[in-house]
Amino acid sequence: MTQNKKSYALPVARTVTDLREIVSGWRKAGLRVGLVPTMGALHAGHISLVDLARQQADRVVVSIFVNPTQFAPNEDFSAYPRIESADAEKLAGHADLIFAPSADEMYPQGFSTTVTVAGVSAPLEGSFRPTHFAGVATVVSKLLLQTLPDVAVFGEKDYQQLMVIRRMVADLNIPVAIVPGPTLRESDGLALSSRNAYLSPEQRAVAAKLNVILRESASSVAQGEDVATVTAEGERRIIEAGFDSVDYLAICDASSLTPFTSGKAGAPARILVAARIGRTRLIDNMPV
Ligand code: PAF
Repeated sequence: MTQNKKSYALPVARTVTDLREIVSGWRKAGLRVGLVPTMGALHAGHISLVDLARQQADRVVVSIFVNPTQFAPNEDFSAYPRIESADAEKLAGHADLIFAPSADEMYPQGFSTTVTVAGVSAPLEGSFRPTHFAGVATVVSKLLLQTLPDVAVFGEKDYQQLMVIRRMVADLNIPVAIVPGPTLRESDGLALSSRNAYLSPEQRAVAAKLNVILRESASSVAQGEDVATVTAEGERRIIEAGFDSVDYLAICDASSLTPFTSGKAGAPARILVAARIGRTRLIDNMPV
């Protein structure tokens, strides 16, 4: 049975058994099922992914699970915002079911399996967060197998994550269509992120400059400028704008994410950045 201890406007499944019971009812009725995996702290960007899933499916499940295995010990797992009732309110009228399992439900005693995706997990985020994508790939493969959706939507905001998941789904023959959702931005271009909530007003003003520098760097690369020159200049400008450090600014092949290191970029290419301000690490990316 679906447990819904707090009275939310839509049902909440806390166990895989409950989730499967509801989804199999939908399947028997011939309905297409969509899944949007999230860690909660939902904003308009997540809702746009849910609405995209809704265009491709008759019923939409949103999972809310702050996945411990994708956080390194020095990262913000315990500080990550957990606001389930506010999330449920935002999902009303957009989704049909929340799947919000406990950590024990996802990783019971004796859990021993890790899914790793070589190659595309290695550069960029992989250099700075070496265990991150194994945590993501493991939890996403579980969520896909638990729900067995026809379609699953992932935001382009986490572009490398999207490429890792695409590779994993292809390699493991998981029968699901992976649909990318465009990044939603504030009026000044800052990409929507749950982590923007950590920014002070002063940091928020600095953060807005990241997308401007990214866009101008992408345009220089598109005009054929040398990628090493563009990335060095972009990094310098990010620091000058007020960021404390730049983990990477890279122009990469759009699907393998192998960085171009000199000369003109090949096509299609993507520019990706991670930069830190105070305790907040922001990521963003764009097509070139
Ligand atoms: O993008 C996220 O919020 C998470 O990485 C995901 C895909 C829900 C896996 O925990």
